[in-house]
Amino acid sequence: MCGIVGYIGTQVAVPILIEGLSRLEYRGYDSAGLATVSQGDLHLVRAPGKLVNLREKLASLDSTARVGIAHTRWATHGKPEERNAHPHIDGHTRVAVVQNGIVENHRVLREHLEAAGCTFTSDTDTEVIPHLIAQHLAQSTLPRYMALLEAVRQTVNQLQGAFAIAVVAADYPDEIIVARQQAPLVVGFGQGEVFCASDTTALLSHTQAFLSLENGEMARLTPLGAEVYSFAGERLTRYPRTLDWSPALVEKQGFRHFMLKEIYEQPGVVRACLESHLIQEPTDGSPLCLGTVTELYPTIERIQIVACGTSWHAGLVGRHLLEQVAGIPTTVHYASEFRYSPPPLQPGTLTIGVTQSGETADTLAALEMEVHRCQVAWPGRPLAFLGITNRLESSLGRLLPHLIHTQAGIEIGVAATKTFAAQLVAFYLLAFDLAFQRGKLDRNALQDILNHLQQVPSQIEWILETQAEAIEHLAHEFRDVHNVVYLGRGINFPIALEGALKLKEISYIHAEGYPAGEMKHGPIALLDPQVPVVTLALPGSVFEKVLSNAQEAKARDARLIGVGPADDPHVHEVFHTLLPVPTLPELLSPLVAVVPLQLLAYYIAAHRGLDVDQPRNLAKSVTVE
Ligand code: F6R
Repeated sequence: MCGIVGYIGTQVAVPILIEGLSRLEYRGYDSAGLATVSQGDLHLVRAPGKLVNLREKLASLDSTARVGIAHTRWATHGKPEERNAHPHIDGHTRVAVVQNGIVENHRVLREHLEAAGCTFTSDTDTEVIPHLIAQHLAQSTLPRYMALLEAVRQTVNQLQGAFAIAVVAADYPDEIIVARQQAPLVVGFGQGEVFCASDTTALLSHTQAFLSLENGEMARLTPLGAEVYSFAGERLTRYPRTLDWSPALVEKQGFRHFMLKEIYEQPGVVRACLESHLIQEPTDGSPLCLGTVTELYPTIERIQIVACGTSWHAGLVGRHLLEQVAGIPTTVHYASEFRYSPPPLQPGTLTIGVTQSGETADTLAALEMEVHRCQVAWPGRPLAFLGITNRLESSLGRLLPHLIHTQAGIEIGVAATKTFAAQLVAFYLLAFDLAFQRGKLDRNALQDILNHLQQVPSQIEWILETQAEAIEHLAHEFRDVHNVVYLGRGINFPIALEGALKLKEISYIHAEGYPAGEMKHGPIALLDPQVPVVTLALPGSVFEKVLSNAQEAKARDARLIGVGPADDPHVHEVFHTLLPVPTLPELLSPLVAVVPLQLLAYYIAAHRGLDVDQPRNLAKSVTVE
């Protein structure tokens, strides 16, 4: 939610800030703005709407400033209007602040500031910050090099909530002060220049050397480097680390949208995930290698999974595998619900947090709360927590000691696709390894299912190469529908939910996923000839049941689209349109079944002329509660 970027160095700041914002637009795009410092003044430019509006305003600006901060907003407090766009400034235009997060006590602070004579010009929670900093600066007797840092330090200690901020001031042109409390912030290092941003992706074309600030840390950035301090004012020693990501990862590489590129990257992603966890020449042990995660195995009696959105859907597939294959009772929770109504603690519980970004506020808060509950209940006992994430350097990566890295590469499209496939692979590997170690799956059965799993990348390739055109035509036909129902059963019920989520979030068409057997208990009343019903009918334990459920919908004149095997005549009889997928063991079918649904959602949104990569009201990384 919201992206912030800052630059201080020898180059002209504005183009670097704008490029950084364009990489961060996935975090929010309700408005954008920037502030630079030059010739003793602060220069502020802001515009409502997408970055293109800010670019237009900047066209006439002749800025040579070499220091600045910028922001792309996902509105929380205050409508997405120019006056609510960041940066926010104090009453004398001497201090400018960008924030990602929410200042929860902003009302009280605002009342105090207004009583002291400050005039507010926005409805945001952020505006209290520059006013507070200006107040502290006015009272400061410190030497110049310490004054701004100390004013920001005093200010962050007055703020409650989750926030990351960057601050520049007209009278302090040689520094940017940044601070982090429960919202991501990285510092990037170049030659005689230093950057800051909400995410490394904003800075990849400039540097690969990053330092992630921890909660309760702040830093003074100058062209020569970064001094890191705690909010208590203690100087800290922190070292940057180098990523080996290519800047090409954040380019579209000829695809019309990032989402389409990311859908097409899935065969490679699944292949890479498998290669890094399959032992080529296994000895007597498991052919799978999950690193330190296996240390958790001996004590597991039950599992609870916490996640949001698409990651929650991956968790549902995970539950099916962990229960049905490994025989371990498993529950799946929305992180936003778990944090306020957690189940009673039970010893022997492994908690798994799933978050591709590793920055989702609800998931992090739920996990932090659970870590705390366990530490209080069983002091000194090792924690049984596992994170599944695509970003090892994220807050989740630093919170939990045991991780499965999904290795999907950076995902830019707001709708998760390749990271979902990678999360599924992580759950397959975990469930199969646990099942093998617990004697629920013998070596032959394990090897057999792994052989099938290794076929999945070429099966996804087959769908992408042979079916995309037909799916695009179908999408054209459906571009104006108002409601779509998705049905699935067993391990493919979560895929029905995921198909519906993909469609609604990028095309704004109402869509719901249901367990196919539940239709007749209410939702069937929705059906008429205008409502397409997309049914996941994959060979296996519930195949015939799903086909019967589809028939029930057909009897209500619904337009039936099936995702199923091309070589089954019965399937062709039932469905008006079939989106064929290769046949493979039922357990693995979600990995291929989701692909036509991703393409269908993508092409419907593209035919509707919508901004697929940046759908309205959404942000990729939901770093506020
Ligand atoms: C949907 C989508 C979201 C995310 C959710 C959790 O396409 O992308 O529903 O899955 O916001 O995000 P992470 O996995 O980063 O915690």
